[in-house]
This record gives sequence, C-alpha cells and structure tokens, in this order.
Amino acid sequence: MSYGVFHSMLRKGAPILALMLILVVIFFAGCENFSGPAKGEKKTVADPCDTVNVSYSKTIQPILQGNCYSCHANAFQTVGVNMEGYSNVKRYADATLLVGVTSQLPGYSQMPPPGPLSDCNKRLIRAWVNQGAKNN
Ligand code: HEC
Repeated sequence: MSYGVFHSMLRKGAPILALMLILVVIFFAGCENFSGPAKGEKKTVADPCDTVNVSYSKTIQPILQGNCYSCHANAFQTVGVNMEGYSNVKRYADATLLVGVTSQLPGYSQMPPPGPLSDCNKRLIRAWVNQGAKNN
C-alpha cells in the first residue's frame, strides 16, 4: 500500500474516528461511576450525626430523657443527681461531669449503667458542651 492510498484512507476515516472519539467521551461523561467510587464501593454520604448545630431542646434533652431520666429526674434523683431541666444539666456540663460520665473518661462513673450511649449521642453531648452548653 503506497503512502498516497493510505493517506487518503486516513483522511476519509478521520471524521468517523472523530465521531467515535466524541461518543466515547460522551459515554464516560454520562457514566455516573466514571469519576466516582468503584463498583460495589459505598458512595460517600453526609455524616448523619450532625454535630454542627446541636440544640439543647431538640437534641440533648431527648437523649437525657431517654437514657437518664429513669434514674436522674425531678421525681427520682439517684445520688441527688438530676438531669431534668436546663439549669441542672448546665451545672453538670460546666463541671465536666456530663461529658465525663457519658464518654467514659478515666476517673468518671460510666453512665448510663445499663450500657454506654451510642457513639453519635456521645459526640452530640461533647459538641453541645464544647459549643458552650447553650439553652438553645
Ligand atoms: C439505671 C440508673 C441510672 C441511669 C439510667 C443513669 N444513671 Fe447516673 N447514676 C446512677 C447511679 C446508681 C449513680 C451513683 C453511682 C455512680 O456514680 O456510679 C449515678 C451517678 C451519676 C452521676 C454522678 C457521678 C459522680 O461521679 O458524681 C452523674 C453525673 C450521672 N450519674 C449522670 C448520668 C447521665 C448523664 C445519665 C444518662 C446518660 C445517667 N446518669 C443514667 C444511676 C443511673
């Protein structure tokens, strides 16, 4: 095959080659996983444990009500500890006892006694205290 014939074939084939290239690019661009996680790999999802905007009334009070009120509430205060009401909780938060007992820090009783809070609930309590234990 002479150079002349090859060259003219290449020239005729050029538009087809270009079209194929464009199709390949479109295919990969439209392919969700092309730049994302490999097949079978979990997609990165937002952290469901939102420690950015922790509210006393919406987040902390329900955690304490569900896990602590049975032993530490207005009606029944084991060892005189009351976790009901913001001003009571705030005192324990400021004294580091709230984080100490719920995050099982060394030297603190471990609360609640039946078993630790979930990791998310521990983080939420720490975040709320770090954000100033506000009555929000
Ligand atoms: C099943 C009952 C029970 C539950 C539920 C419970 N506690 Fe207690 N708590 C106790 C007892 C008993 C003590 C005293 C013995 C001790 O310190 O281990 C105590 C002591 C404490 C103290 C005082 C610790 C100290 O060193 O002075 C704090 C603070 C406390 N609890 C917080 C909590 C918080 C916060 C929760 C919920 C996350 C909780 N407790 C859930 C029974 C409970």
